[in-house]
Amino acid sequence: MCGIVGYVGHGDAVSFILPGLRRLEYRGYDSAGIATVSGMSLDVRKATGKIADLEALLASDRPPGTLGVGHTRWATHGRPSDANAHPHLDCQGQLAIVHNGIIDNYRELRKALAAEGHRFRSQTDTEVIAHLIERYQTNGLEAAVLRAARDLRGAYAVACVASTAPNTLIAIRRGSSPLVIGFGRGETFLASDIPALLGHTREILVLEEGELAVLTPDSVTLRTLDGLPIRRQPSTVLWDGEAAEKSGYPHFMLKEIFEQPEAVRNTVRERVDLEGPEIQIPELGLKDRELAGLNRLCFVACGSSWHAALVGKYLVEAFARLPVEVDIASEFRYRRPVLDSRVLTVAISQSGETADTLAALREARDQGSRAVAICNVVGSSLAREADGVVYTRAGIEIGVASTKAFTAQLAAVTLLGLKLGLARSLVDPALVRQVAKGLWELPDLMSVVLQQRDTIRGIAERFVERDHFLYLGRGLHYPLALEGALKLKEISYIHAEGYPAGEMKHGPIALIDQRMPVVAIVPRGSTYEKMTSNVEEVKARDGVVIAVATEGDEAIAAKADLVIPVPPSLEWLQPVLIAEALQLLAYYVGVLRGCDVDQPRNLAKSVTVE
Ligand code: G6P
Repeated sequence: MCGIVGYVGHGDAVSFILPGLRRLEYRGYDSAGIATVSGMSLDVRKATGKIADLEALLASDRPPGTLGVGHTRWATHGRPSDANAHPHLDCQGQLAIVHNGIIDNYRELRKALAAEGHRFRSQTDTEVIAHLIERYQTNGLEAAVLRAARDLRGAYAVACVASTAPNTLIAIRRGSSPLVIGFGRGETFLASDIPALLGHTREILVLEEGELAVLTPDSVTLRTLDGLPIRRQPSTVLWDGEAAEKSGYPHFMLKEIFEQPEAVRNTVRERVDLEGPEIQIPELGLKDRELAGLNRLCFVACGSSWHAALVGKYLVEAFARLPVEVDIASEFRYRRPVLDSRVLTVAISQSGETADTLAALREARDQGSRAVAICNVVGSSLAREADGVVYTRAGIEIGVASTKAFTAQLAAVTLLGLKLGLARSLVDPALVRQVAKGLWELPDLMSVVLQQRDTIRGIAERFVERDHFLYLGRGLHYPLALEGALKLKEISYIHAEGYPAGEMKHGPIALIDQRMPVVAIVPRGSTYEKMTSNVEEVKARDGVVIAVATEGDEAIAAKADLVIPVPPSLEWLQPVLIAEALQLLAYYVGVLRGCDVDQPRNLAKSVTVE
C-alpha cells in the first residue's frame, strides 16, 4: 500500500509532511522517511517502524526546506529496514523519490543500471526509479521523469524532488496507486489520500492513471505520460477527516471489500505467464526438483485463513495430484503430526503473527518438514521463520473480519496449486493457461459482483431480525459456506452454521423452518445438480432459500426465494466471487443491526496469544 505526502511552498515542508504521514499511517507502518530540499542541498531522514519513530528522530534533527516528500511504507519488496525505507536516492544524492505500487520489471532494470555503474543501496523495486531518472537527467527533471516512466512496467504512484530543481515537485501515476493534489495559497500539496490534505485545503485534483503533474508553489501543470498537455479544474471535497480516511466509505470493512479486485490483481501480477505456461513464485524458496519430490502437503491456519486452506486442498489435489491435509493450527500443534522432509507445510496467515499458526510452523520445521508461508505482511514473524514466502499483496487490512486478505489468499493457493502441478508434470499445460488467464481476468468479474451491493443490501434488510442462518455448499464451495457463516457470526452476532450440503440430511435438516434462512451456494458447475436437489429439499420443508447463483439462472430463481447473482467464471475461481457476495451480505446485516462491523466485540485482528 504505502502512503505518499509532498509539499512545495513557502512554509516549513516538515510541518505539513509529518502530520500528513500520520493520517496515512493506515496505509502501512513498516518504516517512514522524508526528503527536503533547502537551497542546493537535499536532506533525507528515515526510521524503521511507525511515524512516531520518525517523529522522534526529527525532534532533534529536523531538516530545513520549503520543498519535500514523505513516505510511510507497507513493505512488498525487501524487509522493513532503514535501507529499504523511502525516500530512495540516485547515485549523486541529488534526487529523492517516494513510491507506492510495484515495479514489475525492476529486476531487469536493476541489472542493466548496475552494469552501467549505478550503485544500489536497498533491496526494493523502488530504487530503480531514482537511478532511471538519473540516467535520463540531461534536459531537466520533468523530461527525465517522463522518459523514465516509459521504461517502467507495473502500477505506481511516484513523487520526486531534486536539489537541482528548486520549487518543483513532480508526481506520476500509472495503474491503481492513488495520488491527490491539493491547492493552497502560495503552497501546493500532494498525498496518496485526501485525509492528509484536510486542514490545509479542500480544493483538490485527483491525478488520473497515466498522468504526470508538475507542482510549484503557485501552479500545477498536468501532462499525459506521452507528454501531451491536460487541462482539468480542481474540485471541492466536503468530507470530514474521519470519513476521508475511509475514502468516503462508512466503514473500513466496506472499503476493503471494494479493494478486492486490486488485491487479487496485485497478488497475481508478475507471477503468471500466460504464454508459458509458467507460474513464477521465486520467493517460494523451493526448486521445481524439490517440489516434484514431495509426497504430501499440509496446510495450517486459523479463522478465515483456514477456510482459504480448505479451498487450497481442492485446488492442489486437482492440479498437482498431491495428497493434502488441512489443519487448524491450534489442533496441529497439540497433536503429534507425522511429518518428514518430503512433506511441505504451508502456513496461511494474513498477519503472519497468529500465535498458533506460528507455533504450527515451528512444529513442522522441528519435525523436518519444509515450511512455507502464505502471508500478507512483509517481515512478519511467520514470513521471517518460513523457508519461503508467497506474499498476498492485499495491502493493509484494518477491518477485523478478513475480506480482501481472504480473496488474495484464494488467488495465492490457486497459484501454488498450478506451480506444484507444473513442477510435478501432472497438470495439463492447457489447463494452466486457462486458469492463469482466468486469474488475470478475475478482478473484472469481481467488480461485477460488487455492483450487486444494493441488491444484497435489500436481501439483508429482510433478514435482520433472524437468530440463525444455515450456509450450504459442496466441493470448492463448502469452505465458502464456512466462511460465509463465520463472517455473519463475527460482525452481526447472529448464530450461523456452514455445512457441506451433502451432510444436511444428517442433522441440520431438522432445524429448517421459515425462521431460519438457508444460504445455498449453487453456481453452475460440477456440484450444481446436487445443490439444486438440496435447495428443493429445503423448500419442501418450508425453508427460506437465498441462492448465490450464476447470473441468468432462471431455474434456480424459480426455486429459491431470493437470488444473489454472480457472473459466470471458471469453476476453480468461483470461490473468490462467492466470497465477495457473502461478505456483502454479512456486512449489511451487521450494519443494519447496528453492530460495530470494523471492530466487533471480543475479536482482534491478530491473535498473538494462544
Ligand atoms: C482473527 C481475525 C480473522 C483471521 C484470523 C487468522 O480471528 O479476526 O479475520 O482470519 O484471526 O488471522 P491470520 O492473521 O493468521 O490470518
